[in-house]
Amino acid sequence: MCGIVGYIGNKSAAPILLEGLKRLEYRGYDSAGVAILENTNPPAQAGLLGIKKSGRIAALESAVNLANPTGNLGIAHTRWATHGAPTEKNAHPHFDCSGRIAVAHNGIIENYGEIRRALEASGHFFKSETDTEVLAHLIEKYYQENLAEAVRLALRHVRGTYGLAVIAADQPNLIVAARRGSPLILGIGDDEYFLASDASAVLSHTNQVIYLSDGELLRISRQGFSAITLDNKLVDKEIETLDLDAMSIEKGVFPHYMLKEIYEQPQVVKNCLAGRLVLGEGTAHIGGLNLTDAEIRMAERVVFVACGTASYAGMVGKHFFEEIAGIPCDVCLASEFRYNRLLISPQTIVFVISQSGETADTIAALREVKQKGIKVLGVINVVGSTMSRETDGGMFIYAGPEIGVASTKAFMGQITALSLIALKFGRLRHLSVSEGKRIGQGLFKLPSKIEEVLAGAERIRQIAEKYKDFKNFLYLGRKASFPIAMEGALKLKEISYIHAEGCAAGEMKHGPIALVDENFPSVFVAPRDDVYEKTISNMEEIRARKGKVLAIATAGDEEITRHADDVVYIPQTEPCLSSFLSVVPLQLFAYFIAASKGLDIDKPRNLAKSVTVE
Ligand code: AGP
Repeated sequence: MCGIVGYIGNKSAAPILLEGLKRLEYRGYDSAGVAILENTNPPAQAGLLGIKKSGRIAALESAVNLANPTGNLGIAHTRWATHGAPTEKNAHPHFDCSGRIAVAHNGIIENYGEIRRALEASGHFFKSETDTEVLAHLIEKYYQENLAEAVRLALRHVRGTYGLAVIAADQPNLIVAARRGSPLILGIGDDEYFLASDASAVLSHTNQVIYLSDGELLRISRQGFSAITLDNKLVDKEIETLDLDAMSIEKGVFPHYMLKEIYEQPQVVKNCLAGRLVLGEGTAHIGGLNLTDAEIRMAERVVFVACGTASYAGMVGKHFFEEIAGIPCDVCLASEFRYNRLLISPQTIVFVISQSGETADTIAALREVKQKGIKVLGVINVVGSTMSRETDGGMFIYAGPEIGVASTKAFMGQITALSLIALKFGRLRHLSVSEGKRIGQGLFKLPSKIEEVLAGAERIRQIAEKYKDFKNFLYLGRKASFPIAMEGALKLKEISYIHAEGCAAGEMKHGPIALVDENFPSVFVAPRDDVYEKTISNMEEIRARKGKVLAIATAGDEEITRHADDVVYIPQTEPCLSSFLSVVPLQLFAYFIAASKGLDIDKPRNLAKSVTVE
């Protein structure tokens, strides 16, 4: 996912742009660049200084410092390659033929081929292989003296998605921004403005922001800003206050954001439960869910739509809804769901689950469901994200900014939110007050139990040392432990680049066991539950084929030591809540293996924090 930063004010733009790009590094990228307006006296001599580098921002920073620009207007970009290799030539910002217009873009221009051919036919020459460069030349085609108007006219030809920032050499007091499908936020300072793809890049300057909505275009000067639609109609924008604090996006004492975020999980559960869990009634009060009690009682089915880790949270949520709320539940991958025939009725409640609230496939699925007139609710982390604005209601998980690309605390927040919704649904349907109280107490005790698991991190690190050189792993579990096995496998894959396959333990004999030998260990999620004996049998079947077994087990379970080479214990809890605890050792196991290999844990290769393109 690319990142955009823009600055207009009276300070030197270069350090502000570079600091903003560093704040967006976590989104994943493979090249970066800046365009800064230099020497504006008189404007006729002004020129855009463009500096672009492939690789890390550090390389760009060295080149910018060498050039020592003094301008106080500029835009910058981190690129995650879609069209064209991650080279300097393809890095943003891109320029028009004259080099006097610069654009930085996040998204995909679907009809860039036809636009490029038409522009080349009319004499424009291109330097890159990107889709973005067509925007610079299209704006040039329409540019007389009004840059915003030129951008507006150009965008009317464009199919696809964009978050866009544009500056021009002869416009020393203007940034033009536009949005369709890729978020942009404007930070408001004193006679200075900070444009960015997300809040983490403006937070250290201001907490007064406006969010651009799809189809809007923003004119930003040192004296203020104004918004219009692509149909040239003025739009009033409400100034909002960000409630994040700068500290919340610092690593602190941790070597990686991912480890910090693993250790934040007890607090995330507390934040998510706070003001919602009603212990005395064994239920949950969830403001903003936007469902009447009647709608909940009438619901015949719940559908979760998500991607990646969020889909595994949905799979855990399925067990909550079926066991606690007694309502049938399906989990659909957004990338499949959005293209399938939607067999949903008005008695179906659809939830989208997303940390970023910007995942393209999940947004598309959301819009498909709304197209059918069905209410869509969100379980989302980022306030102000596209999904949080387009859903009909839902729950924020209050996990705080999740910087590590590999999701950990957001997963914990998602399953916490889903358990609360299931509890509320259950108590409005068949769940007794005593059952509700029992589950509520179980939820309430989770933060301290997660702390207990975290206290055993050193032992998990030692076990990781034993397994770190294996090239393949099976992760297995049954019922709600199956999605935990899937999530554990994903964590290992994402950050250590080791192949790991998640599998329903009962499926093992239907093929995957053929993989097992002394070089192919298995990780079993095996809490004391109603399928424990079955899982033990599966462990024996693996060991009979010389496969090593690491088991995640319930404290006090001595039996399991006879069936596993290594055991990591989690505290006892309500059986339906074991997922909250069993996922933590798997997060740490993956982290310690990746750390032992010295890998880039917070920014794994090929990955982006949010997949905002299809
Ligand atoms: C999880 O570690 C990955 N980063 C990825 O699977 C992620 O969960 C997925 O892309 C969904 O992202 P979202 O929650 O922001 O929609």
